[in-house]
Amino acid sequence: MKAVVCKEFGPPENLVVEDVDAPIAGPGEVLIDIKAAPITFPDTLIIENRYQFKAAPPFIPGNEVAGVVSAVGEGVTDFAVGDDVLGGSSVGGFAEQVAVPASRLRALPEGLGYAEATGFGYAHGTGYYGLVHRGNLQPGETLLVLGAAGSVGLAAIELGKVLGARVIAAASSDEKLALCTKIGADETINYTTEDLKVRAKELTEGKGVNVVYDAVGGDKAEAALRALAWRGRFLVIGFTAGIPRIPLNLALLKGCDILGVFWGAAQGKEPELFHEGARKIDQLAAEGKLNPHVTRRYALDEVSQALRDMIDRKIIGKVVVEP
Ligand SMILES: NC(=O)c1ccc[n+]([C@@H]2O[C@H](COP(=O)([O-])OP(=O)(O)OC[C@H]3O[C@@H](n4cnc5c(N)ncnc54)[C@H](OP(=O)(O)O)[C@@H]3O)[C@@H](O)[C@H]2O)c1
Repeated sequence: MKAVVCKEFGPPENLVVEDVDAPIAGPGEVLIDIKAAPITFPDTLIIENRYQFKAAPPFIPGNEVAGVVSAVGEGVTDFAVGDDVLGGSSVGGFAEQVAVPASRLRALPEGLGYAEATGFGYAHGTGYYGLVHRGNLQPGETLLVLGAAGSVGLAAIELGKVLGARVIAAASSDEKLALCTKIGADETINYTTEDLKVRAKELTEGKGVNVVYDAVGGDKAEAALRALAWRGRFLVIGFTAGIPRIPLNLALLKGCDILGVFWGAAQGKEPELFHEGARKIDQLAAEGKLNPHVTRRYALDEVSQALRDMIDRKIIGKVVVEP
């Protein structure tokens, strides 16, 4: 089968596309003919050995897939050949086939195509766990999303609206913010041309926002923390702009909570919340309340360019590989 292979750690340009042996479904595993796999920020890190999850070269990157079951291993009873499925793969997604433990799969959410459904685990799963289980976001509260036009950010906008919040999307360009508005954001802040803290305070009549969903970090994190209201919640999601250092007196002054959100670890440590989130997201999709937007579809040969564009902040929205 054709696959994108990381033969040694390095930049996206080092990836090669070649024919490799097709995987087989071992005990407890399901073999999937991949129809779509999302390109995500962790893919840019894992190929450089800079991510918390480590893979040993040679490996095929790509951490989530949607496709059709083509074989099941010994002991698998929940899935059968021909089923449409979605699930986490850790690695192996940028290929024509992958073998995944059955425990990491679920049925493709009703009413969605393969490409549209990808990222439901990665982005919407993180969003639900972060906003509901960690952030306790309430109807009528104000949610500020940083990196809002990325796949994780857009999912937070969608879920914030479903949960009844007023959503302020923050991103680096008007083109990115136009997509955020299309997805449902009530207000936008261009943090390249506007002062993030000042504008967020203006938009909340000086009170500040109730919840920050920070998928960016870097110098945006402190500005966003300073824009929190009394008893606000700051959700630590990601560090695309680097890992910030925060003066802790800000937490005291605002009586706020700074909450780490590690959705991948929650799968093992809080499986009941993990599965509740997946069920809820699938239900919302079936009710037509989530409409994940796919901005661009790439072939396997284009993965390296897509990852370079992601590092260079040229990607807008969710992009997928269709082998
Ligand atoms: N905590 C968890 O459990 C969890 C789960 C999934 C993902 N994540 C993390 O969430 C973050 C976002 O992931 P994603 O897949 O949504 O990424 P993405 O689509 O690339 O979006 C991230 C956004 O970060 C912004 N950004 C700011 N500075 C950047 C820089 N120096 N390089 C690249 N992007 C920069 C970009 O928006 P602007 O240009 O508008 O600033 C970009 O749209 C990642 O750090 C990822 O690891 C965490």
